[in-house]
Amino acid sequence: MSVIAIVGAQWGDEGKGRVVDYLASGEAGRPADMVIRFQGGDNAGHTVVNRFGEFKLHLVPSGIFNPDTRCVVGTGCVVNPETLVAEMDDLRAAGVSLDNLFVSSRAHLILPYHRQLDGLEERARGEKAIGTTKRGIGPVYADKAARWGLRVGDLLRPDWLRERLAALLPRKNQTITHFGGEPVDLDTLTAQCLHWAEHLRPHVADTLPLVRAAVGADQTLLLEGQLGVMRDLDWGAYPYVTSSNPLASFGPVGAGLPIQAVTDVIGVVKAYVTAVGAGPLPTELTDATGDRLRQVGREYGATTGRPRRCGWLDAVALDYANWLNGFTGLVVTKLDVLDGMPELKICTGYRLPSGQVTDRMPDPATLEAVEPVYETWPGWDRPTTTARRWDDLPGTAQRYLRRIEELTGAPIRWVSVGPEREAIIEMQRAAPE
Ligand code: GDP
Ligand code: IMO
Ligand code: MG
Repeated sequence: MSVIAIVGAQWGDEGKGRVVDYLASGEAGRPADMVIRFQGGDNAGHTVVNRFGEFKLHLVPSGIFNPDTRCVVGTGCVVNPETLVAEMDDLRAAGVSLDNLFVSSRAHLILPYHRQLDGLEERARGEKAIGTTKRGIGPVYADKAARWGLRVGDLLRPDWLRERLAALLPRKNQTITHFGGEPVDLDTLTAQCLHWAEHLRPHVADTLPLVRAAVGADQTLLLEGQLGVMRDLDWGAYPYVTSSNPLASFGPVGAGLPIQAVTDVIGVVKAYVTAVGAGPLPTELTDATGDRLRQVGREYGATTGRPRRCGWLDAVALDYANWLNGFTGLVVTKLDVLDGMPELKICTGYRLPSGQVTDRMPDPATLEAVEPVYETWPGWDRPTTTARRWDDLPGTAQRYLRRIEELTGAPIRWVSVGPEREAIIEMQRAAPE
């Protein structure tokens, strides 16, 4: 049995969807029997490019393209039924079977008032806005913690659902109107919920027996993380974070597994950094190099379309990600985006306001004030896009990758050189240097 957590090692958008699709498909060996999304909601945009086409998955696990893989939207997730139904329709239209899609009855529901409140709260923050995706993530997790939430299973109990909505809508509407928004109508929302319930009913399940059965049958399970460590609610650059925990250690909680079940933790590392939304990004490049990374890497948000902030690789953040996640291996993605750059920089330390240099992640307030300390590496001219073996890579690219391993403290297992499923190098199959 293998339970492999696949998580973001930076600020999100590292290519987690691409990696999960590849691993679930069986191209890397045994296909995944189950893929579980364990946190987050449709703030995620996981891009998958395979023979079905190009998809930006927001909630459906990225293993959905393998008809033999059961895909679970886990209990730690938050589900907007409206966008999930739309996403399912798009997938069906592309010929993808959804027979193996299961949504945890315990996952919390994002309802229209959560989205509305997210937008209104962002507006109220003014210059201090977090730059959320406005998908209602903060408000829904707040309701979950405050025990005002409704869960996916509640969609199938219409009388109870209406009763709960009747009790909580006056409170929600008070806040909405306070911020200048339109109040939500009970009858309209109840009717919408009935409509979503009809679409989702065949997929709603108590997912725990499924997960237990998969483990009992010695199967391969992937835990698909959303976002990355630097946006973790507890360990990211608070308050510029999401409202859930992208760390691998939350995987067992959100999926319904004992902690010992996890056999591997794979950190997905983009070969440079990107972030969407506000907050500290020490290695950000606001010059022509940053523009080049954005253009060549097509760095625009998969959910909101916002241009991503781009910068040099940050090894302080990677060391921090490794400590918090305990990576057993890495996938480096988007190496090809660096093709043709004469030289590359890696941030190996932060200069603190005191002048002292540290290679350890400081607290978020200090992070806002640090200056990156770089080492410079030679680039490569030759395109890496067609490389399928370690030996196909230019020597300087190999050295850059080896340095990433050294600074992060975990071995690279795969190197991705294009968005397509097959554009990947598996290190175990590589000839020794
Ligand atoms: P995720 O949220 O972690 O799944 O990542 P996103 O899908 O938001 O962003 C990653 C982007 O990079 C997507 O547009 C992918 O198609 C693309 N991508 C992934 N791996 C590679 C790669 O190795 N090379 C290139 N050029 N693009 C890649
Ligand atoms: P994937 O899974 C990149 C960012 C937002 C904002 C912060 C909080 O595709 O990597 P939220 O809507 O969660 O309250 O926003 O987190 N953010 C993402 N950035 N990729 C994502 O998902 C993101 N999901 C949220 O831009 O800074
Ligand atoms: Mg994304």
